[in-house]
Amino acid sequence: MNINKICCIGAGYVGGPTMAVIAQKCPNIKVTVVDLNEKRIDDWNSEDLSLLPIFEPGLDEVVGEARGRNLFFSTDVDKAIEEADMVFISVNTPTKTYGRGKDMAADLKYVELCARQIAKVATTDKIVVEKSTLPVRTAEAIHNVLSETGNGVNFQILSNPEFLAEGTAIQDLLNPDRILIGGESEDAIQALVDVYSNWVDDDKILTTNVWSSELSKLVANAFLAQRVSSINSISELCEKTGANVKEVARSIGMDSRIGSKFLNASVGFGGSCFQKDILNLVYIAKTYGLNEVADYWEQVIIMNNHQKTRFTSNILSTLYNTVSGKKIAMLGWAFKKDTNDTRESAAIYVADGLLEERAQVYVYDPKVKEARVYEDINYLNTRGEEENKDLLSVVTDPYKACEDAHAIAVLTEWDEFKSYDWHKIYDKMLKPAFIFDGRGILDRAELEGIGFEYYNIGE
Ligand SMILES: NC(=O)c1ccc[n+]([C@@H]2O[C@H](COP(=O)([O-])OP(=O)(O)OC[C@H]3O[C@@H](n4cnc5c(N)ncnc54)[C@H](O)[C@@H]3O)[C@@H](O)[C@H]2O)c1
Repeated sequence: MNINKICCIGAGYVGGPTMAVIAQKCPNIKVTVVDLNEKRIDDWNSEDLSLLPIFEPGLDEVVGEARGRNLFFSTDVDKAIEEADMVFISVNTPTKTYGRGKDMAADLKYVELCARQIAKVATTDKIVVEKSTLPVRTAEAIHNVLSETGNGVNFQILSNPEFLAEGTAIQDLLNPDRILIGGESEDAIQALVDVYSNWVDDDKILTTNVWSSELSKLVANAFLAQRVSSINSISELCEKTGANVKEVARSIGMDSRIGSKFLNASVGFGGSCFQKDILNLVYIAKTYGLNEVADYWEQVIIMNNHQKTRFTSNILSTLYNTVSGKKIAMLGWAFKKDTNDTRESAAIYVADGLLEERAQVYVYDPKVKEARVYEDINYLNTRGEEENKDLLSVVTDPYKACEDAHAIAVLTEWDEFKSYDWHKIYDKMLKPAFIFDGRGILDRAELEGIGFEYYNIGE
């Protein structure tokens, strides 16, 4: 099977960058990314590449090269499906907020809607690729919808989960650790292998059965998140015992069986995937009656929530048990550096905890817009929007955020925070001047030398 035209449904953090790289590397394939969200598509089509809806280092260059040549962004979903040989489903699969499996299971309504739309529109055979992260055995449901409601055309279903990490998405896509393709039809698998072979070495392209592929994505995220929670659990023990978590992480990380990556203690992981995918894994285990398996993985989430609460409590108790009316500067709102994605960011929960104590919170983030910060905090529904507006301010100058503050909390590991003029910041703060480094990125000796009271997780 020769693939000439690809359609990707969902122009989000995965669909946009992934398809931009496929288009860049496969100039002979026409790639159309579609979305129901008109504003998002307009932003993808912005003349000014700094206005793309997603910030990722290097993304603007890739889009700049391919867009208009063989990469297109459109809201005409039906047309793109109809003309494509291969359709990627890359829509959101959030945690359910209602009904059976509420707060645990993945909400598959957007995926099913895509399958129904493909079935309705398609008049030629198509390969349908699950790019979204899905519960194991979803391909079965997609297959049923396609075969029961289609126009008699032939559909092959593949699972091709995405392993990119936000913040390094373009590098990850250009140079992936592996590409995973699960499926039954050898021809369909080969067709997708041929797309990736344009820039990925064959030994990095793994093919498996569909269920292994679907499950591997959930398991990969569960293992990554588990490492974060493991080192975070040790950070609390370090604080009680005089051990230093950075020293412990370095010592254990040099064991080649353990490895050094993903061992930074922090205020906790965020992002749209880790929590959602673990909850989904827990839910799947429970539905099979595997309660011990479910409990084991659930603990990763429990630990992560504890770390966020603990960080907030530490600010409160260190500031003499009251932050009411005190100005607290929050540096960083994105869930990690080099992205403007804020979904499940630890910053949101820390801010919420401080607002409950009636602190005056000033947020600065180099890439997150003011409206996003308010949407995030209002979404929690802890208090009214007016009250959030009174208590929380978003500023575009980090020095202004810190002026007259009682404390600074670092919530994202943006590189620029390391190069600030900390003398200047200290001079304009109230004393004692506290810094709570939720990402362990600042230099303790330098800051204490200036006069700051510096708190780092796990020390
Ligand atoms: N964000 C990541 O780092 C990451 C990494 C790997 C995998 N994933 C998975 O990829 C999937 C997509 O994640 P994302 O972060 O790109 O989500 P996203 O919310 O950024 O994007 C999803 C897009 O799909 C669109 N959409 C939903 N239903 C649609 C429909 N019926 N027709 C057309 N468009 C529709 C939405 O408008 C939205 O723009 C999820 O399953 C996620 O778990 C995400």
